[in-house]
Amino acid sequence: MTQDELKRKVAEAALDYVKDVTILGVGTGSTVNHFIDLLADLKGSIEGAVSSSQASSERLKKIGIPVLDLNAAGTLDVYVDGADEVNAAKQMIKGGGAALTREKIVAEASRKFVCIVDETKYVDVLGKFPLPVEVIPMARSLVARRLVELGGTPVWRENCITDNGNVILDVHNLSITDPVELERRINDIPGVVCNGVFALRPADVVLIGSPIGVRTLL
Ligand code: 5RP
Repeated sequence: MTQDELKRKVAEAALDYVKDVTILGVGTGSTVNHFIDLLADLKGSIEGAVSSSQASSERLKKIGIPVLDLNAAGTLDVYVDGADEVNAAKQMIKGGGAALTREKIVAEASRKFVCIVDETKYVDVLGKFPLPVEVIPMARSLVARRLVELGGTPVWRENCITDNGNVILDVHNLSITDPVELERRINDIPGVVCNGVFALRPADVVLIGSPIGVRTLL
């Protein structure tokens, strides 16, 4: 099976978690795109979705699912999103698609976070995937210097402006043995809007697609 076929398969498995849900949170990325396409069949029962990016909002609207403002929607029952890496503790690296800030907000607003990945994303230790950090543009160099002090090698993601008007630094060469501590330390750097370690609020369920089936981490 190709990686894209595995993404489709795991997206199908996520439908079980949204069958009775009327308003759900929807993440960003190619795995979630499959999930959104599959939501078309449940359209009748879904009143609306809170989206983590303009790209996902457009896709949801195309299939006729209303996109709601989180301020009006309040607490969500379920949030479905992908990840760039996930470990056994259901902690993740996210932000490969530059949507990390809104993803972290919608995850925090949700009772259950269902993470959907293909098997290539499952790792023992987070950090091989460069860690995305969203930064206020004027603080880019300052934050980069602080990230070097933390042992990383930040690289400015050129030609990328987030939905919030900020820039992304991708931090290479981190071996993240204490994700909670690193998430906190990067949050504390002035100029950082959000970092792609999702450990303070990990996933509740991880669905991992492989050629022999979908494994569930609870
Ligand atoms: C976007 C994300 C995505 O969830 C992550 O990059 C995974 O994407 P894909 O499903 O395309 O592999 O965090 O900011």
